[in-house]
Amino acid sequence: MQFTTDPRVAALRLRDGGLVAVPTETVYGLAARADDPHAVARIYAAKGRPADHPLIVHVADASALDHWAVSIPDYARALAEEFWPGPMTLVVKRSDRAGDFITGGQHSVAVRVSSHPLMDEILRALIQLTDDPSIGIAAPSANRFGRVSPTSAKHVHDEFADIIGDDDYILDGGESAVGVESTIIDCTDEIPRLLRAGAITVDDIEQVTGVVPGMTSTVRASGTLESHYAPLADVVITDAAGLASSHSTDEARVGVLALASIETPVGMVRLSAPASNDEYAHVLYAALREADALQLITVLAVLPNESGLGAAVIDRLKRAAHS
Ligand code: TXA
Ligand code: MG
Repeated sequence: MQFTTDPRVAALRLRDGGLVAVPTETVYGLAARADDPHAVARIYAAKGRPADHPLIVHVADASALDHWAVSIPDYARALAEEFWPGPMTLVVKRSDRAGDFITGGQHSVAVRVSSHPLMDEILRALIQLTDDPSIGIAAPSANRFGRVSPTSAKHVHDEFADIIGDDDYILDGGESAVGVESTIIDCTDEIPRLLRAGAITVDDIEQVTGVVPGMTSTVRASGTLESHYAPLADVVITDAAGLASSHSTDEARVGVLALASIETPVGMVRLSAPASNDEYAHVLYAALREADALQLITVLAVLPNESGLGAAVIDRLKRAAHS
């Protein structure tokens, strides 16, 4: 894959059925035109992702929602109004526009408006090139299936340089600000249900919709598989006391991931020392990649509290630890 910083180059490649890794404020995505089954099939092949795992359709603004979805509940419109563009994905009943090759054969479709300025520029350019104001680009996180999501253009290159040829592009938009994937909310029922934790929290959803979101759903989401987001190193969850009483030897090669207030035991490698839950989310995936680059055997991770992005960090670390 070639690097570019020009959203127009990216839009032309997408128009012509190519793949482009795109920056978003959550993580990088691997994108193709959402109305091109051959282009979308290339995403699945590159990721090694099973065909029944549906993709998120990224659109320019909330007005496109009515083209991709039907029977949109008022609470979903309220969420879109409040949090788009932003780190939130809505799962809604699909219109005919959302093909089986996007939805994995389900009767719902996931839709998102990203706040990354380059995503906005690509979509605006693509609208011009295709004369289609509701055009979407399908994009899962730009990592191999089950692995850690990329938060920089370099991460994407590390993941796909050997798999995807030089006709396709990585649009470099800097480090992803949030660092973990979007909050996914199932809006196919009378009340909203949380499918995946992210920067938009349960409290945010309750404030805007006036209802406490359900925490389980009958809808499938691949990011909800128990083992996911995993580095090669073993991730072991511990607490501050457990960490303080752990020992390391040179052979053990142990990494530590914890808030800055927690000290690193002698002989261990500090992967990151974030000062807040937001910063923990921002550095999380780069730290897990660093553990693999250093060929660590184990990562001891101390969970943050649940406030703000803490809930999403806890969710991802528990899944990383499950393998
Ligand atoms: O932040 C993000 O959401 C990133 C950026 C690139 O937008 N994308 C991302 O995509 O994380 P992906 O494919 O790695 O995760 C999307 C999740 C998957 O777990 C998928 O199963 C779920 O969304 N999903 C997609 N469509 C769905 C649907 N119709 N019903 C239920 N879950 C769905
Ligand atoms: Mg993913």
